[in-house]
Amino acid sequence: MAQKILITSALPYANGPLHFGHIAGAYLPGDCYARFQRLMGRDVLFLCGSDEYGVAITLSAEIAGRSPQEHVDLFHRVNEQFFQQLNFSFDHYSRTTWPGHVPTTQDFFLTLQKKGYIEERTENHLYSEKEERFLADRYVVGTCPKCGFTEARGDECQQCAASYEAIDLKHPRSKISGSPLTLKPSIHLYLRFDQFKDRLAEWIGQKPWKENVVRFAMHYIDDLKPRAITRDSSWGVPVPGYPDKVFYVWFDAPIGYISAAKEWAQKIGKPDRWEDYWLDQETKLVHFIGKDNIPFHAVFFPAMLMGQDLPYKLPDEIPANEFYLLEGRQFSKSDGWTIDLETFFQRYSADQIRYTIAANAPETADSEFSWKDFQSRCNAELLGKLGNFVNRVLVFTKQHCASHIPSRHALRPMDEEFLAQMKTLVETAEQNYEAFRLRKATQTLMELAQLGNVYFDAKKPWQQVKDPLRREELETVLSLSLECIKHLALIASPIIPTTAQTIWTMLGCVGVLAQSSWQKISQTSLPEGQSLGETVILFRKIENTEVEERIALLGKKMTKTPEPAISHTPLKPSISYEQFEPLDLRVAQVLEASSVPKSKKLLKLQLDLGFEKRTVVSGIALSYQPEQLIGRKVVLLANLAPATIMGIESQGMVLAAGQGQLLELPHIQDLPPGSVVS
Ligand code: MF3
Ligand code: ZN
Repeated sequence: MAQKILITSALPYANGPLHFGHIAGAYLPGDCYARFQRLMGRDVLFLCGSDEYGVAITLSAEIAGRSPQEHVDLFHRVNEQFFQQLNFSFDHYSRTTWPGHVPTTQDFFLTLQKKGYIEERTENHLYSEKEERFLADRYVVGTCPKCGFTEARGDECQQCAASYEAIDLKHPRSKISGSPLTLKPSIHLYLRFDQFKDRLAEWIGQKPWKENVVRFAMHYIDDLKPRAITRDSSWGVPVPGYPDKVFYVWFDAPIGYISAAKEWAQKIGKPDRWEDYWLDQETKLVHFIGKDNIPFHAVFFPAMLMGQDLPYKLPDEIPANEFYLLEGRQFSKSDGWTIDLETFFQRYSADQIRYTIAANAPETADSEFSWKDFQSRCNAELLGKLGNFVNRVLVFTKQHCASHIPSRHALRPMDEEFLAQMKTLVETAEQNYEAFRLRKATQTLMELAQLGNVYFDAKKPWQQVKDPLRREELETVLSLSLECIKHLALIASPIIPTTAQTIWTMLGCVGVLAQSSWQKISQTSLPEGQSLGETVILFRKIENTEVEERIALLGKKMTKTPEPAISHTPLKPSISYEQFEPLDLRVAQVLEASSVPKSKKLLKLQLDLGFEKRTVVSGIALSYQPEQLIGRKVVLLANLAPATIMGIESQGMVLAAGQGQLLELPHIQDLPPGSVVS
């Protein structure tokens, strides 16, 4: 029977859109691993889904003016779609608001309670008389007990970085309503994690995990204390016997992995099938996570599993990855330090980003996406090495072997060596995938493409073709080169599945590569005489201008200065209204825009004021492409005396907000040209 492998990727909060930074840690490595294991013939169940409870979600929903349900519905949809766009192969994408998650979570709790692992404690918590509810940390603001900052958050002070309990704040008040808070006793349930200490230590002691995971986990085990698993809220899984309380999100979320398996089993019409994975000790359980999730997956959730009656599987592997940054900084939507996904997917393919992230996955240290790296991965590697090799061999074979896979004849030492090296690289790729070394697997892919290129160049089939006596030699070279392409499709398949399938079809192979088997493909040669499919171009070249444009947009929406050290521009002395009044500010619409020769910063604009046209020279070229501006409305200082700039008479000045080199035009949407701004 095939080895069963249950693979999970951390359930992302349905609290905002995911970006490539998330994908690199817990998600793409999980998908590549699942795709590889399926090719190996293993019985894979790959699960993920939305983590939909918790105070962070109710708070964001409240701020956004949505109900928590509307909020999670929205981001569940957005994130599931993002995964589809990236070609993820989850067997099921669940959500913790799935009704079946309630009994699963409650059963977990009831068993822990029955076995004496749950303890009631009464402690003081902050209560809002006005809102008639207890407020969690994140809902509370107040005066920092250390530095006196009056807008300090409930858990730590953003001014002096002190961390404390919300009840330590002076003058605590509600973040939402501003109403004052008082202390009121409230009962909470604690899970006695301390009672699992020895079992956990023994269990982890036997694991050959990555050093960072073991170190982190042991650190937590040393100091295991009972932890509260309930919250005063109405958004969450209800706690049996305690009305008005729900489970803490980190109690219910990992149980979501089990609920997701149950929901999947119902979906395929075999409701008990989840047990074959979760309750069979032969299953291999692999949790893909980001490093911030280590304690929950290596310590707390395993303890919860140990405290059950059912023989739940404990994790076998916890490949935890580091963080993935964007051009050296954390992705941040509010700072504009992000990649606009809509534009991205209009221009680039899922495989291009999957490859770039895999090649630079944050396995042992933080790593980053940079546009230059993306360009060079796509141009020099995917196109230059892989795409070119596939293309030149196929085109040549079509031309000279009537579009069929030629026969193999007597092998020369160089051919033998080529075959042996290919075999070694395929085995290396297999070992890399098996050991969660995704970066190495992508390197192996490129080494194989390079090997093919070197072989093809050394054999010079374009010379062989001129000599009829060397026909057999030529056919052998092409036959082996096509073998190399087949191996490339195979080992590329977990990372760039669409490209791999296209190559497979170009080789004239029928069916779905991902549903075939690694052994079979790597060990059987392509059938002689098989007719090749239609050749298509695999990758388009990414031009410098595209990349420069993306880089220029970074930080564009920046609302605050990134380095706190930079001081603001001092305010100018005040003026009277009479001094302001003579300025004639008008809405104008851009009719034409072009760059000014010999100037990097200047654009020449043709503006329509409704009643007349103006030519204006504006220094916004570093922030805007001319074509972006056509049709856009701007604010013009219309009565500024004309001035000649770079030989052009500029009749007015376009207003823009500026920070360093970056400029942003104010946005006027609806009013017609000529409208007065005052
Ligand atoms: N939502 C959590 C996060 O994004 C991960 C939850 S993983 C699970 O950090 F195990 F709880 F499901
Ligand atoms: Zn402070």
